[in-house]
Amino acid sequence: MKRILVVGSTGQIGSELTMKLRGIYGDTNVVAGYIKGAEPKGELALSGPAEQADVTDALGIAEVVKKHKIDTIYNLAALLSAVAEQKPQLAWHIGVGGLFNILEVAREVGCAVFTPSSIGSFGPDTPKDKTPQDVLRTPRTMYGITKVSGELLSDYYYHRFGVDTRSVRFPGLISYVTLPGGGTTDYAVDIYYSAVKGERFRCPIAAGTFMDMMYMPDALRAAIEIMEADASRFVHRNSFNIASMSFDPEIIFANIKKYVPDFEMEYDIDPLRQQIAESWPNSLDDSCARQEWDWKPQYDLDTMTRDMLARLKEKFGL
Ligand code: SER
Repeated sequence: MKRILVVGSTGQIGSELTMKLRGIYGDTNVVAGYIKGAEPKGELALSGPAEQADVTDALGIAEVVKKHKIDTIYNLAALLSAVAEQKPQLAWHIGVGGLFNILEVAREVGCAVFTPSSIGSFGPDTPKDKTPQDVLRTPRTMYGITKVSGELLSDYYYHRFGVDTRSVRFPGLISYVTLPGGGTTDYAVDIYYSAVKGERFRCPIAAGTFMDMMYMPDALRAAIEIMEADASRFVHRNSFNIASMSFDPEIIFANIKKYVPDFEMEYDIDPLRQQIAESWPNSLDDSCARQEWDWKPQYDLDTMTRDMLARLKEKFGL
């Protein structure tokens, strides 16, 4: 049985991943790591142990790992792409300095480490369609630079010290539970909230801008399945392309309108997010993940839309 620490358990991915891991490995075997000011609440707080675990505090992380005899760390601490452009030093400090601290503890104690990478690890020099697994990665954003550095550092710790590091490049993640904060793909979450609340949606990304997206249940499964996978089949580790759907604002709008006929959208382009989106791929080729650990998504745009609308209506009592 694994003993897991989720660093960033109250964030967009962590809040759902922690609960799912508790369901699989047992409530007491999954520690919800948090930073001051972002303490677990509700079910997350009540269902299992929680500890302050700030990635920028190496000694604090080591203490929690030893106290709970942790063997697997999900390191989800990061600033998303748009906010990282406003605070590049902090983004580096958390994304790379923080990962360094986690990897050092993992090396000392013998933990496996999962750290998400992103479509943001690619840049304008990368082929845009069906972006291959192994290709030039020259991001122009601080977010992307921390992700490429994180991939390299994680592979280094595997080859040099045998630390069992694994990772996937997440697309934009869509969920009805916890809102993302300061990402470029956030519009694909916000649009559902507007549709359900009966508001006209102001879209910050231009028509024709395609990005890879994924429904959260598939993303959670990917994070768990890669850590359970038979590593003897791995050719890659840090980090695997994964994909399930690619769309632009017009396509997601039209799909939602099928179920919410009077839904309306207008464009109010955010120049920073638009520039970031244009530097990212339109769609990733995830065949290596499919071959090396049997990755397969379950949701497409339409099944996601139906579930998102139903869940949000329930959430808002509509
Ligand atoms: N969702 C992230 C962002 O938009 C990309 O991985 O910043």
